[in-house]
Amino acid sequence: MADRIAEEKINQIRQAVDIVEIISEHVQLRKQGRNYFGLCPFHGENTPSFSVSPDKQIFHCFGCGAGGNVFSFLMELEGISFQEAVIKLASRVNIDLEINLQNAQTEKKVPKELQAMKDAHELLRKFYHHLLVNTKEGQHALEYLYERGFSQESIDKFQIGYSLNSWDFVVKFLSKRNFSLEWMEKAGLIIKRERDGTYFDRFRDRIMFPIFDRNGNTIAFSGRALGGDDPKYLNSPETAIFNKRKILYNFHQAKASIKKLQHAVLLEGFADVIAAERAGIENGIATMGTSLTDEHIALLRQSVQSILICYDSDNAGIEAAFRAGKLLDEAGFEIKVAMMPDGLDPDEYIKKNGPEKFRHEVIDASLTWMGFKFLYFRRGKNLQNEGDRLDYIEEIIKEISKLKMAVERDHYMRQLAAEFSLSLDALKQQQKQYYFAEKRKSRGTSEHNVKPAIIRKQADELKPAYYTAERLLIAHMLKSRELAYKVQDLLAGNMFNVDEHQAIITYLIEFYEDHLEPDSAVFLTYIQDENLRRMVATIEMQPISDELNDQELSDCINQVLKYKKLLKIKEKEKEQKEAERHKDFLTAAVIGKEIIQLRKSL
Ligand code: GTP
Ligand code: MN
Repeated sequence: MADRIAEEKINQIRQAVDIVEIISEHVQLRKQGRNYFGLCPFHGENTPSFSVSPDKQIFHCFGCGAGGNVFSFLMELEGISFQEAVIKLASRVNIDLEINLQNAQTEKKVPKELQAMKDAHELLRKFYHHLLVNTKEGQHALEYLYERGFSQESIDKFQIGYSLNSWDFVVKFLSKRNFSLEWMEKAGLIIKRERDGTYFDRFRDRIMFPIFDRNGNTIAFSGRALGGDDPKYLNSPETAIFNKRKILYNFHQAKASIKKLQHAVLLEGFADVIAAERAGIENGIATMGTSLTDEHIALLRQSVQSILICYDSDNAGIEAAFRAGKLLDEAGFEIKVAMMPDGLDPDEYIKKNGPEKFRHEVIDASLTWMGFKFLYFRRGKNLQNEGDRLDYIEEIIKEISKLKMAVERDHYMRQLAAEFSLSLDALKQQQKQYYFAEKRKSRGTSEHNVKPAIIRKQADELKPAYYTAERLLIAHMLKSRELAYKVQDLLAGNMFNVDEHQAIITYLIEFYEDHLEPDSAVFLTYIQDENLRRMVATIEMQPISDELNDQELSDCINQVLKYKKLLKIKEKEKEQKEAERHKDFLTAAVIGKEIIQLRKSL
């Protein structure tokens, strides 16, 4: 049996840490009124809708609905269990949990099937690597890698391997070790044959690149064909432990360097990340052959502000760099773009020109985002041609208009004016027009103003009166124990109309039985259900008056009860109709009286 952490210890930890301080390490927060605001780390956004309340020690995102206390924050951010979050914070504030950590850590609530999926990946990673490095079967694969310029250190560091040219090696390997083949199929390691239900290996005769999660667990593979086999790269399918949208290749190894340098290098392919590492670029990462997602951006934002995009310099690569840059720019990152000559990719460039040249002539010589756009919009145009030239100037002016700093705008306007021998004044006039047009378009979403996002959110969800009344009551019940009991009395055994609201007040009353004072952060640890927890955080963050006066209180209660009565009336009317249909006029008359009574009481 694993040791449990005492309730009292959890409270001690919560009192010792400050949620603003913890969250500040991951999110840039700005104070506004009583609360702090910043860009939500749980979804991609460029206007801050993530808020933290120092008074209540809770956080809430108006955009994606994430919310909770300091423990829930770490759980969601790092994908860890409640216990792990407690242990983490305890060691930070030097509180001795007085439990056996060994036991506590193995109590992670990972279902055993998921654990088995991870274990199988771990075993296979080691075995594939062994096959590549030490066996005759893997020799041709090793030679292929050497031929491509991979060093032995890279092969070890990235744990590259080789999968045998066999249909059932992995099937046998895993079943011998008592892994459930059904689950191994769900893990994407083997595939089931339709006709007889037997299994075969997914990866055969391929160079195996293990894919790690951010904690270094192997959760998937990408297998590269040795010859011209199709597909060139075969990835694990999406599984319970692997979500391509969230994974950045090499993030687990690069993250320390990314944090230290406050800078990341985004590449297109695995081979590029590995070659760049050989050239001394330790902060290189890549997507899994897909475009950048909101999840990737949210992950990057936790550790870095500045990103260098180093994609292939063929057409597809430049287009992809433009798309990635646009997303990162909108998300507020500082961007650089590295360009290589002759349509090479970084791996080929390094092989051809060596690491020194790569570092100095590609990485160090990278362009600013605007500088890249100067080149990007030029592609496919003949600037000797007047039409093309005017189109180009217009595109660039539009881009300059998006720049936030006046000095930047001025700098690029001068550059443009000089290049095409144009009058700076005329260009500036034109630029102002675009600038104000842009501004009109984006009015209300200005980055430094938080309110609009919230107001928009509330306005587009016009809810019925009883719903709003229940929320308002809960908001005040969370603030005052007396009021909570008073509402209970006034409801006289009736329940809230929204099931979730009723669930929250049931938890709340239970909480007040043990605690004399309201405490938002402690209350949140009472609630097991994540949905309810988020809802409580939302309600906590809604601005309310300090007190509910008696008139407001009875108005709210009436709204709640009124809806119940309306439902009741509807039900009675149905019964009445039914009675009339059966020509039971006496019953119909009795029901009619009841309806009149109910209407009167409204
Ligand atoms: P090498 O040819 O080994 O140098 O790979 P590369 O990284 O140069 O490949 P490329 O530029 O063609 O592709 C970049 C990335 O896209 C790869 O690292 C893969 O992640 C992904 N990719 C490429 N080809 C395939 C494919 O056939 N299937 C899948 N699923 N992904 C691919
Ligand atoms: Mn390549």
